[in-house]
Amino acid sequence: MPPRLKSHERDLDLSDGLKLRLRPVRPEDKESLIDLVERMSPEDVRMRFHESTGTLSDSMAERLANVDQHHETAFVLVERDHADKAEIFGVVRVITDPKGEKGEYSVMVRSDMQGLGLGKYLMEQIIDHGRGRGIKDIVGEVTRANVSMLTLCDELGFTRRKSPNDLATVEVHLRL
Ligand SMILES: CC(C)(COP(=O)(O)OP(=O)(O)OC[C@H]1O[C@@H](n2cnc3c(N)ncnc32)[C@H](O)[C@@H]1OP(=O)(O)O)[C@@H](O)C(=O)NCCC(=O)NCCS
Repeated sequence: MPPRLKSHERDLDLSDGLKLRLRPVRPEDKESLIDLVERMSPEDVRMRFHESTGTLSDSMAERLANVDQHHETAFVLVERDHADKAEIFGVVRVITDPKGEKGEYSVMVRSDMQGLGLGKYLMEQIIDHGRGRGIKDIVGEVTRANVSMLTLCDELGFTRRKSPNDLATVEVHLRL
């Protein structure tokens, strides 16, 4: 039984006065997810999707906005005053294996909002949620050149392993 996600709504105030809210992604967020990817640098899109698509296709956006509640959780960071239909500043997701014990994360912060602590916040939130959900291991595939993600993973206590299939990526792993 998936946990009640409403309880994972959190408010976050940035030092410049921007008031953000973290909430579960919703089907209505599809267009905002497309906008988010359009506002990412090509390099950031490549780091997240491991390919340089540049844009999010309609079908992919549909898929990302509609989570499979039993095996997947995704949170978005939006402006608090427009939390229902809003620009998305960042998104974090975890998809578990059928047993719900191992979860693969992905995370993305809008290119012009990076370096403010949002990536770390999103990762901490999904780790916290994963613990509550009974996930035992969180893993990710990170491109070797992705210094910011690898440094962030180090800070969060992830360990690194060679990726079995791809020399250009590293598997990061956190035991919860
Ligand atoms: C990786 C990513 C999520 C980090 O988000 P962010 O909001 O910029 O990160 P934060 O501001 O929270 O930084 C957290 C920590 O990450 C590390 N970090 C962030 N940017 C860094 C950079 N350019 N160089 C080195 N370390 C960096 C630092 O350790 C930092 O901690 P500090 O501020 O205490 O020094 C963001 O760069 C991103 O969306 N990249 C594109 C998509 C992607 O690569 N996703 C990951 C693959 S699944």
